[in-house]
Amino acid sequence: MALQHDLDLTPYNTFGIAARADRAAPFRNADELRGLLADPMVSGNPLLILGGGSNILFTQDFHGTVLRNEVPGIAVVEEDDTHVRVRAGAGETWHEFVLHCVARGWGGVENLSLIPGKVGAAPMQNIGAYGVEIKDTFDSLEALRIADGEVVLFSKEACAFGYRESFFKREGKGLFVILSVTFRLNKEPVLNTSYGNIQEELAKKGITEPTIRDVSEAVIAIRQSKLPDPVELGNAGSFFKNPVVPTELVDRIRAQEPDVVAYPAGPGMQKLAAGWLIERVGLKGYRNGPQGVHDRQALVLVNHGGATGQGVFALSEHVLRTVKERFGVELEREVNIV
Ligand code: FAD
Ligand code: EPU
Repeated sequence: MALQHDLDLTPYNTFGIAARADRAAPFRNADELRGLLADPMVSGNPLLILGGGSNILFTQDFHGTVLRNEVPGIAVVEEDDTHVRVRAGAGETWHEFVLHCVARGWGGVENLSLIPGKVGAAPMQNIGAYGVEIKDTFDSLEALRIADGEVVLFSKEACAFGYRESFFKREGKGLFVILSVTFRLNKEPVLNTSYGNIQEELAKKGITEPTIRDVSEAVIAIRQSKLPDPVELGNAGSFFKNPVVPTELVDRIRAQEPDVVAYPAGPGMQKLAAGWLIERVGLKGYRNGPQGVHDRQALVLVNHGGATGQGVFALSEHVLRTVKERFGVELEREVNIV
């Protein structure tokens, strides 16, 4: 694969931030990737593995090589009467993979419909939505170790998934390239319609006995009603995580703000809705030039046109500071800052 030089990254990040990479190349399999890693222009220099660019903020040009994951293929690796194990190439589009499963009646990923990005990035932050995370159907993944080019098989335990967390975001950061992910899906799906307004959305359509396709469509409709489409308004989804804090802190906030939104998160801990906190400090819909807080979902920062990575980062600092001052809660960024 020939290296491209001085690549414009604007089309490769859903924030639509203008940044450039010194070098870039796509790869479709482990051999192509090994070939690129052995290139003297590449080895020893900074590397960035890029999927759909939907969870990344470029705050500067990238002085290294961007390797664009285009590993294809979806295949059944094992099947019995009740379950199917399916391997997806890391370069497959996540939502296309979900639709592939829904069309075949394989349950387990339908609540994760319409999440942007590629399959290979899904384990990075254990993507989640509407009461489901990929760890719930995850079987294993294959990743190439950058140091020696070996392909290593990771079990679910080895991935150490947590809320928007995994081994690959922490200890394994920058050490592996995920090549494929295998899921174990259910041919006799157990639906999860308890989260948010899925039930409401189904009732609107008069559906009383939903299929996985109905759940997928309900999730798509809810997402489209609140999350901005990156094609129209640049963004990277939730910019911050929902913070997990001690119950005493939630109680202190509730004493002043009885409608604070919090969910149980293990003994003595609760998860606060960061979108609620940001809205309550008055920043929902706030704009600082072309950088803004979305007016329908305060957890999402947006590019109104011509935003810079530095500008979005500065806005995120302002949000962090304001929430901290008002509620004593430390928000953490979810988006990968480059
Ligand atoms: P990228 O942004 O390309 O990369 C993300 C990180 O993973 C980078 O650090 C990159 O270096 C690394 N990486 C990517 N691919 C590989 C690989 N093959 N091997 C090793 N490292 C790799 N996320 C949720 O969890 N839930 C949601 O509901 C959700 N909704 C969203 C809605 C919108 C409108 C948007 C724009 C984003 C949303 N996201 C959500 C965030 C995002 O879609 C996910 O994090 C997604 O998995 C990112 O995939 P990507 O291919 O775009 O990753
Ligand atoms: N809320 C507000 N104001 C807002 C936004 C939210 O008050 O501006 C309140 C809502 O009313 C609701 C609560 O906060 O009571 C939760 O809101 P929502 O259901 O929209 O979900 P979220 O917690 O804001 C999380 C994920 C999303 C995921 C949705 C649905 C994180 C960081 N974000 O958002 O993931 O799609 O739940 O499950 O956990 C992403 O990671 O990029 C992402 C979009």
